[in-house]
Amino acid sequence: LPPETFQDRLIQWQQTHGRHDLPWQLNPTPYRVLVSEIMLQQTQVATVIPYFERWMDSFPTIEALAAATEDDVMNHWQGLGYYSRARNLRKAALYVTDACAGEFPAQVDQLLKIPGVGRYTAGAIASFAYNTYGPIVDGNVKRLFCRFFGIEGVPGTTQVDKQLWHHAEQFTPQQNNRAFAQGLLDMGATVCKPKNPTCGDCAFQDQCIAFNTDRVADLPTPKPK
Ligand code: ADE
Repeated sequence: LPPETFQDRLIQWQQTHGRHDLPWQLNPTPYRVLVSEIMLQQTQVATVIPYFERWMDSFPTIEALAAATEDDVMNHWQGLGYYSRARNLRKAALYVTDACAGEFPAQVDQLLKIPGVGRYTAGAIASFAYNTYGPIVDGNVKRLFCRFFGIEGVPGTTQVDKQLWHHAEQFTPQQNNRAFAQGLLDMGATVCKPKNPTCGDCAFQDQCIAFNTDRVADLPTPKPK
């Protein structure tokens, strides 16, 4: 399937079946995208929503976060787990307000210098906040790509992740990045699910290698126990 066809189908699907009412989708500033994506890294959407709302009430801007005490920041994270994420968000706010003179970076290579920001988060900020080219590979995308491209091997290993990022770079469009990125995440979360994926609702069923070779239940390759 040519990348342009994949992009067109995904963007179409996103417009009719994707999610449009998540709090971080309204007013997707780089700061709001950063906070939501860090919260969503190890935590489910439904759990994140009230934390995100409280966070934005208390720290509405990156300057407000930079000015907060570490105790205040940690209290807002209480219950979300993986507390290094909160410490890094505070460091990220200090970095952007100090080292970047308050100008939030827009290029992936500059975004990667922000504490706690890896390749996924940098791509998400480029896509969601700036609506520019930003490949994203998270758990949802890994599952969808392993099935669609018929990639064998365990996601998370260097060899498999290298292929996944390569496909993401090739298939990410230069336009409509916000809809494309949200479509990938939404399709992975609501259609191309880990168990009982609803392949009949998928925009790529006819071109999916896993579907066409009856391996949807076997891909992605599970971690050895
Ligand atoms: N998971 C990670 N990022 C997300 C987003 N922007 N929307 C929904 N789920 C997500």
